[in-house]
Amino acid sequence: MRFSISRFDPDRDETPWLQHYDIDLQDSDRMLLDVLLRIKEQDQSLSMRKSCREGVCGSDAMNINGRNGLACITRVRDLKGPVVLRPLPGFPIVRDLIVDMTQFFKQYHSIRPYLINDDPPPERERLQSPAERDKLNGAYECILCACCSSQCPSFWWNPDKFVGPAGLIQAYRFIFDSRDQATEERLDDLNDAYRLFRCRTIMNCSEVCPKGLEPSHAIERVRLKMIKKEGDSGALPVHPPRPVA
Ligand code: SF4
Ligand code: FES
Repeated sequence: MRFSISRFDPDRDETPWLQHYDIDLQDSDRMLLDVLLRIKEQDQSLSMRKSCREGVCGSDAMNINGRNGLACITRVRDLKGPVVLRPLPGFPIVRDLIVDMTQFFKQYHSIRPYLINDDPPPERERLQSPAERDKLNGAYECILCACCSSQCPSFWWNPDKFVGPAGLIQAYRFIFDSRDQATEERLDDLNDAYRLFRCRTIMNCSEVCPKGLEPSHAIERVRLKMIKKEGDSGALPVHPPRPVA
């Protein structure tokens, strides 16, 4: 099978270009990452990120045949050749499949991704009812892989102003946490023309999330909460991740 991989060396190349690798697939090549690691054995100049190999760390997010996904949980048998691999779209390329995620994490940190609660800490833990805890389901599973924000045109055009779907599903996770006391401040912080409302409900985020999450639903619930309408009716939807074609 042919794998065409985007290459870019900032010291040598003006623009990215595709390098073709023709690979005889083996039984052990179950996931795309298995093939990439074999390609890297042949060509050690190829740069990419990976760590957990289990769909947990988010570091091997890339664009696979035009759609973002994680190489370690993308089955080779689901792929149509030639397989074209590019770095996450909309992010500055550092080298080959590696992108600069500085802006992405700036937006993540801007939503203050931690509990804010000024009450003295209890002896053991801050308790929640099962119903309160249920509201975090469908959001806490986000692994910050950036597949969603990188496939979002609103984030491409305004990465410094629009929080993006990944940051907003994290914002939801704290706004709807019964233990957090900064709900109104968090909503005020998002209430401008860009940070939340630049979402145009294109829904690429929910389409590509490799964990099957739906950032677009989280964004809608935050909007409803902002205008004081019911926005917190239990867990967010989670669907089986859609296979990369
Ligand atoms: Fe990745 Fe999904 Fe989290 Fe977006 S919502 S960063 S696609 S895990
Ligand atoms: Fe960690 Fe793929 S290597 S998510």
